[in-house]
Amino acid sequence: MNIKIGRNDPCWCGSGKKYKKCHLQFDEKISHFENMGHIVPEHSIIKTPQQIEGIRESAKINIAVLDAVAEKIREGMTTQEIDNIVYNKTVELGGIPAPLNYNDFPKSVCTSINEVVCHGIPSENVILKDGDIINVDVSTIYNGYFSDSSRMFCIGNVSEEKKRLVKVTKECVEIGLEKVKPWTFLGDMGQAVHEHALKNGYSVVREIGGHGVGLEFHEDPWVSYVSKAGEEMLLVPGMIFTIEPMVNMGTDRVFVDKNDNWTIYTADKQPSAQWEIMVLVTEDGHEVLAY
Ligand code: MF3
Ligand code: CO
Repeated sequence: MNIKIGRNDPCWCGSGKKYKKCHLQFDEKISHFENMGHIVPEHSIIKTPQQIEGIRESAKINIAVLDAVAEKIREGMTTQEIDNIVYNKTVELGGIPAPLNYNDFPKSVCTSINEVVCHGIPSENVILKDGDIINVDVSTIYNGYFSDSSRMFCIGNVSEEKKRLVKVTKECVEIGLEKVKPWTFLGDMGQAVHEHALKNGYSVVREIGGHGVGLEFHEDPWVSYVSKAGEEMLLVPGMIFTIEPMVNMGTDRVFVDKNDNWTIYTADKQPSAQWEIMVLVTEDGHEVLAY
């Protein structure tokens, strides 16, 4: 913390209260961790109650869009049809799909099938087949606030092997979530996710992580799922970030498609699964904003 605010000045959080009556003690606690050598959050990623309310509304749309996909997704459908559902539902609810034109991403949603790890681009030419597993990753902007979450769907008769990958990946997210509470570290969550994947014979992608979210699509901190307990950023109330591990059946190595520069594949072409939730750190634990 290098911002000097007088004890009687207005608090940085915008509450209108004097600093000494608002976040002074909170900042002192953060400084204590910083002095011990920990990575600590900047004020800019600590959300105010008003911002949290806005982000919560955005997340509600994100959930409704995923629910709409869940209702209609089926064998024989193209991933372009999923894109249409996402675009139409988001706009109907007053939102904007965050992926559309984000760093030149051409569609409204990411659709990642089987050995595609993430960032699959919807297409007229990609048809959902019996036995596929697919991640549908939805992100919404509503009133300037961002939300982001994804789910896996099993199409038709999926092999026991792939079903287990999907189930264990969801467990990884839930086991990581249990570790999220204030004045602990992101690495506590990351290690828990990693251990559960390893215990089940899987690997976790290292290069691509989660992120802070809310005021922008991708904010600090960058969130690893191969991190170590007691390491990475200190968690404090008001932080919002995603838990979105990519869990691979085989190697953790991945590569990016040379043609579209987006689609990420497993190096060994074995399947990969991902679930993504958005979580708020509260005074006494956490609140899931989108699942
Ligand atoms: N939704 C992805 C995430 O979880 C980001 C996708 S970027 C896009 O972070 F441009 F591909 F949409
Ligand atoms: Co995300």
